[in-house]
Amino acid sequence: MMLPILLLLLPVLSPALAWIPVEDWESGNVTASVGESGQCVCHVYLPDSTFPADRVQQMQQVSKDLILEVEIQMNKMVSYEGKLEIYLKELSDLTVRVAMLESSPDSYIKLDFELLRIELREFEAIVSQLKDSLNSSSPMFDSLYTEIRNMTLIVNQLETYDKSNLEVIRIEFAKLQKKLEECQKEQEFIKPDIGNCNHTGIMSLSKPTVVQLNAHLNAGYQYGGWGKDSKPVRGYESMYYFGAYVNPSVHDFYLYSDYEKLILRSAFKHHDIPSGWEGTGNNYIVHGNTIYYQHNTPFSMTKLNLTSSRYDSRVIPAASTRFSYSYSDNQNMDFAADENGLWVMYASEESKGKIVLAKIDEKSFGIADEWETGVFKQLAGNAFMACGVMYATRSVDLNTEEIYYAFDSKTKEENHLNIRFQKFLEKYTNLDYNPTDQKLYMYNDGYYVSYNVRFNRE
Ligand SMILES: *[C@@H]1O[C@H](CO)[C@@H](O)[C@H](O)[C@H]1NC(C)=O
Ligand SMILES: *[C@@H]1O[C@H](CO)[C@@H](O)[C@H](O)[C@H]1NC(C)=O
Ligand SMILES: *[C@@H]1O[C@H](CO)[C@@H](O)[C@H](O)[C@H]1NC(C)=O
Ligand SMILES: *[C@@H]1O[C@H](CO)[C@@H](O)[C@H](O)[C@H]1NC(C)=O
Ligand SMILES: *[C@@H]1O[C@H](CO)[C@@H](O)[C@H](O)[C@H]1NC(C)=O
Repeated sequence: MMLPILLLLLPVLSPALAWIPVEDWESGNVTASVGESGQCVCHVYLPDSTFPADRVQQMQQVSKDLILEVEIQMNKMVSYEGKLEIYLKELSDLTVRVAMLESSPDSYIKLDFELLRIELREFEAIVSQLKDSLNSSSPMFDSLYTEIRNMTLIVNQLETYDKSNLEVIRIEFAKLQKKLEECQKEQEFIKPDIGNCNHTGIMSLSKPTVVQLNAHLNAGYQYGGWGKDSKPVRGYESMYYFGAYVNPSVHDFYLYSDYEKLILRSAFKHHDIPSGWEGTGNNYIVHGNTIYYQHNTPFSMTKLNLTSSRYDSRVIPAASTRFSYSYSDNQNMDFAADENGLWVMYASEESKGKIVLAKIDEKSFGIADEWETGVFKQLAGNAFMACGVMYATRSVDLNTEEIYYAFDSKTKEENHLNIRFQKFLEKYTNLDYNPTDQKLYMYNDGYYVSYNVRFNRE
């Protein structure tokens, strides 16, 4: 019965160790059991002083605690019962997946610790929003924050060992974020008026609500953009786009069927822009399943129709290549879309470098109307449109930006504002409003960032 002895040297990294009787190797402790086909299985514990199995275990415990806290909190929110069951299941899936990961050390993927930290930060922001929107002062939220901070600490400690496979945790965190974001959306009182422009303009922006490193997992891809179609065609309502490059040029675009696919970097389509159609400037948007971007040579507006895969371009004779926004070169034509349709903003010699706002006629791909604004393009960080009003932004300090100017295309009125909002990193190359969800999408030094826009409804 004792022969043959099959020595299973459990991988030292495996926290599965935590779940079998583990005794002291130095005192000759081993445990034995009978395997499925009658063989003797001998478990030997090799203490490993370099890898913090106890920390991983602790992290797992913290994640369990987190689930418990969320569960307690979620149970209180009787009105969201149906949804909650799904979230709770997702949360326990998280633990199961982490456990699976930890017991299979074959897949050895380097974890981007910074990313995990960022995701924890985002998770914290979402919990904070949840707390605000539920108007809850429950101490449960405080302990949630503590848990998140604890997890961040553990991530920091784990990083110094950098040899475990925690990619799956990262992915699970992304899913968790998405669930929490959906939860937040479910009970969002602030947006009953999508498409309604009966207000006096932007009142405030939320804290950044999505902070995620781009799909190349490389912050060196600083020049790019991301977002959703502002007038989606049927079946593509949840589609996200992304494109980025290491210099201010436009070479390709990735399309994702929904938010989760975006976060998991699983594109359903990759458009490599053919020679002759390359762009520049990274101020593109997707509108009506068509990407609008700035063409390099000849300098013009270009569209790539994603339905027909056809390219087309139009020169704007007055537009100058001399004026860009302050954070990036080549941003001469900035495309935007709002409740009223499609727009482009550029500066010209005639306007002496001030932004000219132009309405694009989608059918003819021509300029239907134009207004000269009071914004010197080179002083602005970026500009975007919402409800027919052009808003321009500028830097306050490294982490603060402000909307400082508004131009109403209906009344031709200008307004000076100081609506401040946090940015994650200093520079950004793409900032656009999306009327389908009333959010601002920013591409902030390689990171996806978004904001909820609140309008002034008196
Ligand atoms: C095995 O470990 C247990 C618990 O750690 C301890 O009480 C026992 O003395 C150990 N056995 C030997 C033979 O050292
Ligand atoms: C939030 O809670 C406070 C105190 O319980 C209450 O006075 C206030 O009306 C609540 N606000 C909302 C929007 O429910
Ligand atoms: C945070 O972690 C420390 C040890 O790292 C632990 O003592 C403490 O209880 C943890 N706090 C919470 C709220 O989990
Ligand atoms: C717009 O909002 C104001 C104030 O809320 C309201 O009095 C007015 O009737 C609204 N107008 C339209 C066209 O809905
Ligand atoms: C894109 O192509 C489709 C199919 O040919 C066409 O119906 C649609 O109008 C085009 N859209 C634009 C904006 O060119």
